[in-house]
Amino acid sequence: MTPDSLPDFDVRRLGPARFPSPMPLGEQGGDGLADFVDDLSRVLYTIETRPGDEPNGETPSSLEKAGPRARLFFRSQDIRAAVVSSGGLCPGINDVVRSVVMTLSYHYGVREILGIRYGLRGFVAEDVPPLRLTPELVKDAHLQGGSLLGSSRGAPPVEEIARFLDRQAIQALFMIGGDGTQKALSAIAGAIREAGLSIAVVGIPKTVDNDIMYVDQTFGFSTAVSRAREAIHAAHAEAKGAYNGVGLVRLMGRDSGFIAAEAALASGEANFVLIPEVPFDIDGPQGFLATLHRRLISKRHAVVVVAEGAGQHYLHEGGGLGQDASGNQKLGDIGRYLRTRISDYFGEREIPVTVKYIDPGYQVRSTPANAPDATYCQRLGQNAVHAAMAGRTEMMVGRIHGQQVHVPVEAVTVGRKRLDPEHPLWRAVLQSTGQPHLMVNL
Ligand code: F6P
Repeated sequence: MTPDSLPDFDVRRLGPARFPSPMPLGEQGGDGLADFVDDLSRVLYTIETRPGDEPNGETPSSLEKAGPRARLFFRSQDIRAAVVSSGGLCPGINDVVRSVVMTLSYHYGVREILGIRYGLRGFVAEDVPPLRLTPELVKDAHLQGGSLLGSSRGAPPVEEIARFLDRQAIQALFMIGGDGTQKALSAIAGAIREAGLSIAVVGIPKTVDNDIMYVDQTFGFSTAVSRAREAIHAAHAEAKGAYNGVGLVRLMGRDSGFIAAEAALASGEANFVLIPEVPFDIDGPQGFLATLHRRLISKRHAVVVVAEGAGQHYLHEGGGLGQDASGNQKLGDIGRYLRTRISDYFGEREIPVTVKYIDPGYQVRSTPANAPDATYCQRLGQNAVHAAMAGRTEMMVGRIHGQQVHVPVEAVTVGRKRLDPEHPLWRAVLQSTGQPHLMVNL
């Protein structure tokens, strides 16, 4: 992505920040005390440079730095807040909810925090009233996987949600979710504006798929990669334990191959990684099966990692499989398909092969957050609260180049991030696996 094609990174504000923050932070560097973040501090979007790249009078694209502000839009202890999580489960949801509640309560004195149950439907469903969230209720939440609030997929009834927020006098809404939730955030914020309400709506990027635009990483991804690596490790042991052993692992990630690529790299044990972003043929002399055949002749075992969105055209040539409740294209099972194709290919040639198929499925995302995700979630929750208190709205907190920033939700919702085959990550995967750069019959 070139700077020319970058969107506007300006974040909406509800109004001037007039109230002093109750947080005991300093305003100047060099005194050894933790500081507020200056409202003018920004983080460059692109940090790579070469001689001759000096700016020619143009200001490079940058994002607002996240963190506590000295002056707030809301008079802190007066506000009521709400938290909701929607979409699929993900490691770290409870960590984020906990962090939001702790920061609102202990650092801004907020006493009224509602936890919306089972996703966006919880705003309107009468059978599941919101939960009153307190530090006491959430203090151990991060020790569990899943979501203490529950989650769900489905289109948001935006006007009803705006009315709910008005009725409940909510002034800060925190929305934990992937790109579908961030789109819902945008629509809800639109309805809030239409209704003339002053409510800060702040998103937090949740998804194991790591497919959210303009942030380095979503929370939950690191944990999912760690769990996926365990599956690859098992596949490797099984493959090595058999003559012509093939360990085949299918991993989540929807239309992006990040989990498969990073888990394969972390394992150092994968010989083939198949992802949606890189086309491959299954048949033919340069295709996957013939390449696997050559690998078995030389090494007598192979580990194949396939991302769930890869090779979908092999599974439903006549059209799609429909959509889920969030409007996502449903995916066919490429793992099972490959297992059959591998067995048939070697069976036809009377070559003995043992295929062990592992699909860890939901196990990669239903687990508690690992340490890197847990620290990330703590900081995302804190910074989401700081942003809302300062009156930022229609934005998401996230991280680029190790710095937490504010990203306008309009930018986030333009599409889904996918693995660029020219990115160093994919090159590293190719180097680690030794697979051909392209398994395509030209
Ligand atoms: O988007 C997260 C994710 O776990 C994807 O990797 C996967 O394709 C999908 O959700 C599964 O969705 P569901 O929870 O609806 O089965």
